[in-house]
This record gives sequence, structure tokens and C-alpha cells, in this order.
Amino acid sequence: MPATLFEALGGETAIRQLVDRFYDLMETQPEYVAIRILHPRDMSGSRDKLFWFLCGWMGGPNHFVERFGHPRLRARHLPFSIGIIERDQWLACMFRAMDECEVPNDLRLQLDQSFTATADWMRNQAPQP
Ligand code: HEM
Repeated sequence: MPATLFEALGGETAIRQLVDRFYDLMETQPEYVAIRILHPRDMSGSRDKLFWFLCGWMGGPNHFVERFGHPRLRARHLPFSIGIIERDQWLACMFRAMDECEVPNDLRLQLDQSFTATADWMRNQAPQP
């Protein structure tokens, strides 16, 4: 029984594949345009940052913290306008990437819940009345 989500998922190779699929979808699929336009034109830096972050977030090596210090994830997202639409596009893109990477079902429940809670916490725009 693997000790961490990081190991259960398949370590750095699997997380890199997931992150690459996530950003490939964001780059090519029109339904994620609201989050695509928030990102830089060249998203290679974004790919690396999400990969480094997720390794530690899933119980693996702390690449992100070693490079940038405490994640302060919500604070780092404050420059971007994130409401319900952006949250839902981010999650839809990640869920599709996980489907396509065939993340095992027994890990999906935990990942779906953790991504949903984290993405919702990133919202910094009140819903429109
Ligand atoms: C809720 C919708 C979200 C939107 C619209 C969003 C958007 C963005 C954008 C535009 C950036 C800047 C990219 C760059 O500087 O290259 C970013 C950075 C980042 N995002 Fe998100 N994000 C969301 C949710 C999440 C979630 C749920 C996670 C983690 C599970 C996450 C992890 C990160 C990380 C680690 C960075 C790099 C932070 C830094 O070093 O500046 N994001 N995000």
C-alpha cells in the first residue's frame, strides 16, 4: 500500500503527464478560454510551477517550497480575477486531464474533493447578484 498520494499516482512521471495534459487542454480547448486568458502566452513556466507544487501537495518532494518558499496559494492568485466561471473551468480542465490520464478510481474521490476545495478557496470575486 503506497504511503502517499504521490506514490499511489505514480510519482513525478505521472504528475508531469497530468500537468502537461491539463495545460495542453487549456491551450487547445475553447471551453477553458476564461482561464487561458489569465495565463501568460508561454505557459511553460506555469506548467513547471503547477508540477512542482502538486508533487509536494500530494506528499512527495517539496520542489515548489524549495524554490519559492511557502506556497501562499491564495495570495499568489490575487492578481487574477477568479470567480465561479474560472473555478469551474479550472476544475473541468483538471477533471478531464485526470480522465484522459486514467487516474485510478480509488484515487479520484480524494483528488476530486481536494482540487474542488482548493479551487473554491482561490475564488476572489463574489458571485454576481
Ligand atoms: C480556481 C481557478 C484557478 C485559476 C483561474 C488559476 C489561475 C492561475 C494563474 C493565471 C496563474 C499564474 C500562472 C503563471 O504565473 O505562469 C496560476 C498560478 C498557479 N496556480 Fe493557479 N489557478 C486556479 C486554481 C489553482 C489550483 C486549484 C491550484 C492547485 C491545486 C493552483 C496552483 C497554482 C500554482 C502552484 C501556481 C504558481 C504560483 C506562483 O508561483 O506564482 N491553481 N494560477
